[in-house]
Amino acid sequence: MSQEENLPFNEKYTLPPYKETYRRSLEDSERFWKEQALELEWTKPFSKVLDESNAPFYRWFPDGLINITQNALDRHVKTWKTNKAALIWESESGESRTLTYGQLFNEVNRLARALKDLGIKKGDRILTYLPLMPELPISLLASARIGAVHSVVFSGFSHQAIADRINDAKAKVVITTDYTVRRGKKIPLKQVVDEALKQAPSVEKVIVVKRPHFEDTKMTEGRDVYYHELVSRTGYKKVEAEETSSTDPLFILYTSGTTGKPKGIFHLHGGYGLWTYLTTKWVFDLHDNDVFFNTADIGWITGHSYIVYGPLQVGATTLMYEGVPDYPNPDKWWELIEKYNVTVFYTSPTAIRSLMKYGEEWPKSHDLNGLRILGSVGEPINPEAWRWYSKNIGHNELPIVDTWWQTETGGIMISATPGLGNYMLKPSANGLPLPGVEADVINEEGTRAKDREKGYIVIRRPWPGMLAGVWGDPDRYISTYWSKFKGVYYPGDYAVKDEDGFFFILGRADEVLKIAGHRIGTREIEDVLISFPGVAESAVIGVPDPVRGEVAVAAVVLKQGYEPSENLKKQILSHIKDNLGSLVIMKDIYFVTKLPKTRSGKIMRRLIKSVLSGQQTGDTSTLEDETSLDELKKIINEFE
Ligand code: WTA
Repeated sequence: MSQEENLPFNEKYTLPPYKETYRRSLEDSERFWKEQALELEWTKPFSKVLDESNAPFYRWFPDGLINITQNALDRHVKTWKTNKAALIWESESGESRTLTYGQLFNEVNRLARALKDLGIKKGDRILTYLPLMPELPISLLASARIGAVHSVVFSGFSHQAIADRINDAKAKVVITTDYTVRRGKKIPLKQVVDEALKQAPSVEKVIVVKRPHFEDTKMTEGRDVYYHELVSRTGYKKVEAEETSSTDPLFILYTSGTTGKPKGIFHLHGGYGLWTYLTTKWVFDLHDNDVFFNTADIGWITGHSYIVYGPLQVGATTLMYEGVPDYPNPDKWWELIEKYNVTVFYTSPTAIRSLMKYGEEWPKSHDLNGLRILGSVGEPINPEAWRWYSKNIGHNELPIVDTWWQTETGGIMISATPGLGNYMLKPSANGLPLPGVEADVINEEGTRAKDREKGYIVIRRPWPGMLAGVWGDPDRYISTYWSKFKGVYYPGDYAVKDEDGFFFILGRADEVLKIAGHRIGTREIEDVLISFPGVAESAVIGVPDPVRGEVAVAAVVLKQGYEPSENLKKQILSHIKDNLGSLVIMKDIYFVTKLPKTRSGKIMRRLIKSVLSGQQTGDTSTLEDETSLDELKKIINEFE
């Protein structure tokens, strides 16, 4: 990659603020975090920075009182920013809306009041099933304001996914809307919720945002209420933010792991608040006249941290768009950048790759000169995509911050940090760890890997944005993140570190796929496959895809009485879609009579993967039955 030509890797680019801040963050950490945290407003200041008494359940600023909405809203409405745009929204439907900090504050208060009137209290769980529309961030902030715990379900997920999440979190309220729009079509959402609620008894109220031109939504008397009616029941009255503790839960967000059941990662008001605030400043360097456009959905952590909480806490203007980037034309995002004078742009490698194929003329037809910083997230960015992004969106000169992080880390962990003067970029590297992040690469034995030796990335000490745990499952928190290596946080990614301390994240080290940057466990897909009547056994693996980075492929053994056919394949594919939503891209399903297994009965996915990607299978000595591989090879050859 030719980043060197534009931004030479050179000591002079690591300006002192980054180095000095990083050094202090580790050497004098207590004082460092205290100073940083005092940039936020506290209802009651903390006396202790970190409680390690119940490690690895670390708790930050444990005796402080803070509510994230005070920092996202109250502190700005006291200043000139009350008239500054907080949120700009545009939809493919043609709707658009801009809310100033003052207006957003009022909307949040209106909903917070209404939720209180419904009897929702501190600690109750509120689930949202909303697309990118202003009521989504408003719902999150209103929930946080009254001390409730929000859980966003991505609006492309199935009724089953909603039901599972409601039941795990025991949510009392669901907030949804009539429909979302996609490529000119209305996709109903409320009816998906209705279906989910048949299996989710904890929900007492469903709040429905009414959208124009839609009459198909059915309301259930006593349970369902329209949002606009609810918030206009009482006159406007400000709701003081609930005096939440720094360690009270703010939200649960479900993400995939190596078992079939998604885990509820939860984050807290104080630590998460501070981490999203700081990382937004350090990485995106947002100032008063910046407009930040993050193309992620709020259904993922990227939207939680960098559409809602980070940008609002720093008092920036955040832009969100409901729709896909290539409809009606593949210049929708470039048009938005020009129209709203976007200065900082954040997207994913998959999005870049999908737009590349339409050619350079689309971005060329727009004035993108207002841009200052570009970002990438979700998966490693390949050189072609990086070059296209840099050339066509970044005029070959803007820094591209390649931010590595996870749902669990709350915010960015490794990246360049323009806000600290660190523009240092290297080809294919994510960059240096952010202040407070003591990252390292270790090998299977747990010893530090040599420079450029592939190993596992680990984080050697707690940081404020770290997950508080797995909702309702403390053992899973410990076994997933703190058990592979003693005393360090294990993210589950492969990485290398070079002689200058730069990290290169190489991809997942576990059974988790990243399809178009979205996380999905192979076990999760296998569980759904097995729930199909004719499927006896299945093995799912990821194979490389030129646009989506990775897609899924399954080898399936049918039950007696079922014959492989194109029709059956179609039925299985639609079963996956019904259960997991449209995000799981199944490239193909291969019908086999047996799966390659070890003598002890473990499916050898590694071998399936090698066969499917045309590589050498390597050591097959533990394989119980060699013919299982031959069969798979034969099927693939026929297929090709
Ligand atoms: C991957 C998304 C390489 C990684 C914020 C991680 C990345 C997982 C990058 C978390 C990046 C994220 N370069 N890989 N810049 N960013 N990843 O929880 O495998 O949806 O563990 O959070 O995405 O995915 P999650």
